[in-house]
Amino acid sequence: MKIIKQSLLIVMSLAVLISCKNYNSINTKELSLKKSYKDKFYIGTAINQRQIEDNNSLESSLISKEFNSITAENIMKSMFLHPKEDTFNFDLSDKYVAFGEKNNMFIHGHTLIWHSQLAPWFKLKKDSLEMAVAMESHIKTIIEKYKGRIHSWDVVNEALNEDGTLRKSVFLNTMGKEYLTLAFKWASEADPNLDLYYNDYNMTDLKKRQGAISMIKHIKEQGVKIDGVGMQGHWHIDTPSIEVIEQSILDYAALGVKIAITELDISVLPNPWGLVGAEISQRFENNKLMNPYPKTLPDSIQTKLADRYNDIFKLFLKHQDKISRVTFWGISDKQTWLNNFPIKGRTNYPLLFDRELKPKKAFYSLLELPKNN
Ligand code: G3I
Repeated sequence: MKIIKQSLLIVMSLAVLISCKNYNSINTKELSLKKSYKDKFYIGTAINQRQIEDNNSLESSLISKEFNSITAENIMKSMFLHPKEDTFNFDLSDKYVAFGEKNNMFIHGHTLIWHSQLAPWFKLKKDSLEMAVAMESHIKTIIEKYKGRIHSWDVVNEALNEDGTLRKSVFLNTMGKEYLTLAFKWASEADPNLDLYYNDYNMTDLKKRQGAISMIKHIKEQGVKIDGVGMQGHWHIDTPSIEVIEQSILDYAALGVKIAITELDISVLPNPWGLVGAEISQRFENNKLMNPYPKTLPDSIQTKLADRYNDIFKLFLKHQDKISRVTFWGISDKQTWLNNFPIKGRTNYPLLFDRELKPKKAFYSLLELPKNN
């Protein structure tokens, strides 16, 4: 009886072991994300000013080892690149492009027309004509400056409200909805070989998706070129579901545009907006409930995150014919914007490398996936 019980236990443990995904036992010396996904889609990362300027750090070797595409996290936004109407500041963007070229990378531009981190002079434009002149010159000067060196641009960023209507930005207020079509027209005139993207968050939500779809259809109906949709991918450990992500990929692909996942990170922390009650973010600031892992991430959540990444990338590989690029929003958990958003000073763990730049279980969960998918 004892022997039967013991054998049963061994069989059960073996079954559990087999059903668990073992992500840790890979020798990464010869392997990298960019090599594994070489024939699938670009694997990108967003880089900040420090990473652009410091070419010799451990971090920059990690960037060039693992990634074959870059996006500038902040330095190419209009407040930095075009701070005054008659002044462009290309110092950092020159370094950014040089970094990409040195490492033979696909270089993405982020972003031309965005209401946030906006150069203040744009807000002084009073009417349609003034704004159109400013916008055309902004778009064309920047694109032409890096013609043939930057390969794709987020031409318009976050123009939609959550209900799918158009955001009341300074661009909409002065020019009406045709600013969208014109922005893409001017971008394609400046460089017809560029890939031009519309980029936004919550692109899996039904109403916003419908809004994005009608915007893209409208631009195409005017005979203007738009090449792709950027689904930012600021997602959570449980949401959105794989089914909803898949349906969104299918819906956008049906428009005949490419899909890029442009700002991927997966928050493991509670979302204050998901809770009921007013002023919730204030109330929970630095509260243990809202910042449950201030020191380390428990292994169970580490594994859950790895499984989530694994599921998401299986889906991306299933639709590799539709996906041009998958870009992570940062390198490591140390510098992620999610440590300060939507609550300041939390400890989040959304990326593939930890605070010491060591690969996490989530990294290993992706490394060999393309072999069988
Ligand atoms: O550089 C200053 C620093 O000197 C100062 O001490 C510190 C105090 O808070 O602020 C620093 O600037 C911050 C900057 O990031 C650099 O870290 C700004 O406050 C902060 O607002 C800014 O946030 C950026 C955010 O865009 C602004 O909207 C994030 O880094 C950047 O990751 C984020 O990126 C956006 C995409 O462009 C568009 N999609 C959403 C995505 C996440 O919000």
